[in-house]
Amino acid sequence: MPVIRTNLPPIQTSRTVYDAAIIQFPKILDDRGNLTFVEARRHIPFDIQRVYWIYDVPGGESRGSHAYRELQEVIIALSGSLEVFLDDGMAQKTIMLNRAYYGLYVPNMIWRQMKNFSTNAVALVLASLPYAVDDYIREYPEFQRMNRIR
Ligand code: TYD
Repeated sequence: MPVIRTNLPPIQTSRTVYDAAIIQFPKILDDRGNLTFVEARRHIPFDIQRVYWIYDVPGGESRGSHAYRELQEVIIALSGSLEVFLDDGMAQKTIMLNRAYYGLYVPNMIWRQMKNFSTNAVALVLASLPYAVDDYIREYPEFQRMNRIR
């Protein structure tokens, strides 16, 4: 998994788990406490149209076993840790997030599951589009079918 220290991940030409990338955000260290920030199109490779967060996840639970047709996301472990399992229909990858200054860029058309949340984990998700139920692919066989024809 490459760590990108410059502004933007590479332009997306395909959608494989290898297009997912860790983005390292600015980190302003201070004795009073650290500060990290992001700006759309500078540190995030899309305009942020929605933000949501997942928290109070009971031990052993997982979230988000699905793919999106169009939506791109950046997932940040603001507190605690979690694992993100990615699957493009061919290859799979699991990425551990445990720093508030790292974000995981997930392109569209990647099956993804968030799991192994630590106690008090908070996962912040920056999303490229508003919520749209039709954008979800919730059945894995349908995801595989769509991958075969693209
Ligand atoms: P969902 O994305 O389906 O979560 P998961 O895949 O982890 O089960 O979201 C759960 C519910 O929350 C679903 O009923 C839709 C609603 N929701 C919104 O209304 N807006 C949002 O931005 C999100 C992410 C979810």
